Amino acid sequence: MASSLRIRSAPRWTAVLLLWAALCCLFVPVVMVKQHDFKKCDQSGFCKRNRHLADTAAASSSWTAPYALDAASITFKDGQLSGTVLKTPKEGGEKVRLPLTVTFLESGVARVTLDEEKRQKGEIELRHGSQARKERYNEAGKWALVGGLKVAEGAALSEKAEKGYTKVFYGEAGKHQAVIRHEPFGIEFQRDGETQVKFNDRGLINVEHWRQKVEKPAEEKKEGEEEKKEEEKKEEEEEEKGEDESTWWEETFGGNTDSKPRGPESVSLDISFPGYEHVFGIPEHATRLSLKTTRGGDGNYDEPYRLYNADVFEYEMDSPMTLYGAIPFMQAHRKGSTVGVFWLNGAETWVDVTKAKTSANPLSLGTKGHTDTQTHWISESGLLDVFIFLGPTPADLTRQYGELTGYTAMPQSFAIAYHQCRWNYVTDEDVKDVDRKFDKFKIPYDVIWLDIEYTHEKKYFTWDPLTFVNPTKMHNHLDKRNRKLVAIIDPHIKNVGDYPVIDEIKKKELAVKNKEGGLFNGHCWPGDSMWVDCFNPETIKFWKALFKYDSFKGTAPNTFIWNDMNEPSVFNGPEITMPKDNLHHGNWEHRDVHNINGMTFHNATYQALLERKKGEIRRPFVLTRAFYSGSQRSSAMWTGDNLAEWSHLEASLPMVLNQGISGFPFAGADVGGFFGNPSSELLTRWYQAGIYYPFFRGHAHIDTRRREPYLAGSPYTEIITQALRLRYQLLPAWYTAFHEAHTTGAPIIRPNFWVHPDDEAGFAIDDQLYVGSTGLLAKPVTKEGADSVSVYLADGQPYYDYFDYTTYQGKGHHTVPAPLEKIPLLMQGGHIIPRRDRPRRSSGLMKFDPFTLVVALNKEGSANGTLYLDDGETFDYQQGAFIHRRFAFDGKRGILTSTNLAEGSRTAKLDAFLKSMARVRVEKIIVVGAPKSWKGKKEVVVMEEGAKESARRKKVAIEFFEGKGKQADWAVVRDPKVGIGRGWKVDFLG
Ligand code: NOJ
Repeated sequence: MASSLRIRSAPRWTAVLLLWAALCCLFVPVVMVKQHDFKKCDQSGFCKRNRHLADTAAASSSWTAPYALDAASITFKDGQLSGTVLKTPKEGGEKVRLPLTVTFLESGVARVTLDEEKRQKGEIELRHGSQARKERYNEAGKWALVGGLKVAEGAALSEKAEKGYTKVFYGEAGKHQAVIRHEPFGIEFQRDGETQVKFNDRGLINVEHWRQKVEKPAEEKKEGEEEKKEEEKKEEEEEEKGEDESTWWEETFGGNTDSKPRGPESVSLDISFPGYEHVFGIPEHATRLSLKTTRGGDGNYDEPYRLYNADVFEYEMDSPMTLYGAIPFMQAHRKGSTVGVFWLNGAETWVDVTKAKTSANPLSLGTKGHTDTQTHWISESGLLDVFIFLGPTPADLTRQYGELTGYTAMPQSFAIAYHQCRWNYVTDEDVKDVDRKFDKFKIPYDVIWLDIEYTHEKKYFTWDPLTFVNPTKMHNHLDKRNRKLVAIIDPHIKNVGDYPVIDEIKKKELAVKNKEGGLFNGHCWPGDSMWVDCFNPETIKFWKALFKYDSFKGTAPNTFIWNDMNEPSVFNGPEITMPKDNLHHGNWEHRDVHNINGMTFHNATYQALLERKKGEIRRPFVLTRAFYSGSQRSSAMWTGDNLAEWSHLEASLPMVLNQGISGFPFAGADVGGFFGNPSSELLTRWYQAGIYYPFFRGHAHIDTRRREPYLAGSPYTEIITQALRLRYQLLPAWYTAFHEAHTTGAPIIRPNFWVHPDDEAGFAIDDQLYVGSTGLLAKPVTKEGADSVSVYLADGQPYYDYFDYTTYQGKGHHTVPAPLEKIPLLMQGGHIIPRRDRPRRSSGLMKFDPFTLVVALNKEGSANGTLYLDDGETFDYQQGAFIHRRFAFDGKRGILTSTNLAEGSRTAKLDAFLKSMARVRVEKIIVVGAPKSWKGKKEVVVMEEGAKESARRKKVAIEFFEGKGKQADWAVVRDPKVGIGRGWKVDFLG
C-alpha cells in the first residue's frame, strides 16, 4: 500500500482541510521509501533463478552453456543471418528449437533476436484456462522503434571463417565484424579487428522454454525438525540439478499471487565489454552516472539494477532500485571508444554489472592493466532482442539509438521556460493570484500547473464546480501574458455511476482486463478505478475525442497535459502496480508490456493534443512520469517524488544527465524537492541548479508549505529571480540545444565524458554539465553552506566566468567562488553564445526581442556557435520556416561572420517567418578574451547582406575593457543593427 502521506479520497477544500494541511506543515514527518513494497532479486523468481545460474557458472571450471547454433540451419540473405539455436534441456528430452536472426543494419548497428519455435507456432498449453497469447511478446519494436532498420546492403559472410564459426562483415567499409561461435553459441562484435562486445562469453545465456507442469503428488505434512530437514534436503537437490522450480508456476508477493499461466519464460544473456571500465545508462535509478557494480564489495551494490516501472515515492538515494521509467540502453566507454547495447524488452528486467580487472604484466613490456565490464541482463518474458552499437564516439551512439527510437520532439518555446506547480493550486482565483504575484515581483514564468484537486471528485475531464468555477476566464487571464496551464490527467478512471467517461470505457471494453478477461478494477486517487488500455487502437480513438475543446470543456489552446501515475500505479496491486497476469489488447499479458505501458498512455495524450481542433495544429506538451525507449518522441519526463533534501538535489544531476545520454533528454527533477519543506538556502540552490534541467519545474507535495519564489523573502527571492532570469536570458541557447537533440540525438545537458571522450580523468564526473554545444559549463552547488565549488576543466582552453570573465585555465580542478548569490557558470573559450538580455514576464513576450552574442575566444583567439530559431509553436519549421545561423569569429582575420546553416529551398512558410523576424536584430556583441591590440580601438566595420547601399559598410562603435587580475579583457560592440536572420560580417580590424 502507498504511504500514509498520500491523500486518497477527494475531500472538498474546506477551511478544516486547509487548517489541517497547515498543521501538517509544522510537523513534516521523516519519509523513506517502503523497501518492503518492492521486490529484491531473490523475491523475483526469474531473477533469482538466473543469478543462481550465474553463480553456478562462476563456481565451475567446466561450465558451458547448453546452447548450440545448428550449422546446417544457417542461411544469410539480404543482410540477415538466420538459423536455429538448439538448447539441450537439463531435464533431458527433445532439444528446444530457438530461431535466431542476426540483422546487420545500414547504420552499422547489428540486431540479434532469439525466439522459441514452439511458442511461435502456438504449440503450447496455458494453465488455468488462460486466454493469454502463446507467443513470446514480439511487439516491443512496434512501440519503441521508428526507424534505422534499413538493412545493410554491404554486409557479407566471410569466406574465411574457421570451423565452428560464422563471420559477417558489416558497417562502414566492412570495418565491423560479427564472429558467431556455434557451440556454445556466442557472438563477438569487433570493430577494426578488435572485440568490443561479447555475447555469452560467461555462458549465462538462458531462454526458459515452455514446458508442461508435472503435477507432483501432494506431500504428507511433516512437522518440526523433520519438516526443516526435508526442506534443506530438497534445496540441496535443487542446487545440484541447478534448477529451482519453486517459482516456476506461481509466485506470491505482498499478498498477491501471480498465476503465471505460461510457467517460467525468462530470457537472459551475459554481455561483456572488454577493456571498458565505465558503463552508463539504463535509467531510471538514483545512482551515479558511471554505474557501480552490483555483486557486493565496498561501496558497491549487492542488488542488480532493476527496470520495472513503479511508483517508488520518497525514493532512496544511491540505489539500484527501480524507479518510474525504464530505458534498457547501456553504453560502455573508454578512451577512444564508446559502444553499447539496447535490450528491447518490455518486461521486468534486472541487470547485474561486474568488473574484472587485469593487472599489468610486469614481465611483458607494454602490457597495460585493464578492466572489463561484464553485464548480465535478465528479463521475465518476451524475446531476446538486442541491438549492438559499435560507436566509436558517444555522439555516434546517441545518434544511432535516436535513429531507432526517435529523437526528442521539438518543444514549443514555452515548454523550456519555467513551470510553476504544486499539489495544488486550489481555486481558479488562487491560480490568478499566483500569476499576479509573479508579475508583482517581476519574476518570469511561463506555465502554471494543476494537480488532481482541480477535478470534480477525481473524475478527469471535469472541473470541481465549487473551486474552479470559471476555467475559461482563468485561461484567458493567463493568455494575456502568453502563459499556459498544464492540467493533470491520469490513466485510472473513476469507476462510478453518472460519469460518461467510465460508461463508455465499460461499454466498449477499453480498459485493461483481469486474468479472467473481465475489466480490471483497482484503487488509485479516485478510489475504485479502471485503467485505459492504450495498446488498443479503439482506446486511442476514444482518448483523442476526450480532449476536444467541446468535450473537455473549460480548456483552451493554452491548456497542456501532465500524465502521472502511468507505471501504472495501482494502490492495492502487487508492488503498487498491476497484476502481471492482467490482459491487454491482443491478449498480451501485462507482464510482457509492463515497462511499455506508460509510454502508450502519454503517446495517446500527445496524439489527442494534436487533434483538439481541426486546423489548429500546435506542438503538444505532455509530461510523463513513466517512460520507455521512444518516450522522447512525445513527452518530457521528471524524476518523480524526490525529497527536499540536499542529497536529492545532488542526485538529480547525474539522473538528468543520464536521461540525456539515454535518448530522453527533456528531463528534470522537482525543484525544491517534492516531499518536505526545503530551507531557504536549499530552495535557492535548487533553483540555481534547476535552471540547468532541460525540463524546469518547481513542484511540492500537498502537505508542504507554499514556496513560490516570491514567498522566499529577501535575499532569497531576489537571488532566485536572478537565477530564473539567467534561464530566460539563455533561452536562445537552450532552444538551439533542443534543436540539436531533435535532429541528432545529442543530449541537451552533457556530462564530461560526452564532451571530452578522451579525457580519462573526467569519465566519472557527473556533478557538472555542459549546456548543448554552447561551451557553457555549470557546476551547481549541492552542499549546504558551500561558498565555493571545485570545477573540473578537461582541457587547456581558457574558461571564463559567465558574469565577470575571471579566467580559469589548465586541465584539472579549479576553485570557483560560489556565495549564495553566485551561480558557478563558466564559458569554455571557443564558443559563441546567443542570448536575449531584456527581462520579461514570460518567454512568449521575448519573441521579437533583440539578441546579444557573447564571443568567448579560445587560446587561438577564435570562436564558433550556432543559433536555431523558429516560431516556437507550430510545425511550420518542418516546412523550412526557421532561422539557423552559424557564427564564427576568425581570430587571425579579426572577422565575425553570420552564415546560413539552413539548407533547402525557400518556401512560403519560410518567407513568412523571415518577414516576421525581419526587424529582430543583434543589439550587442561581447568579445571575451579580446586581444590587447584592440585597446584604444573606437570602431569596427559592419557589413550586412541585402542592406541598402549606404548601409553596406557601416562603422559601429566598440569599447574595450581591460580586465583586472585574473579577469579577461573584453570588448563590446553596441548595436551593430544586423538582422538575426541575415548574413553579415563584423570586421574588428577594419
Ligand atoms: C504523484 C506525482 O509524482 C506527484 O508529482 C503528484 O503531485 C501526485 N502524484 C498527485 O497527483
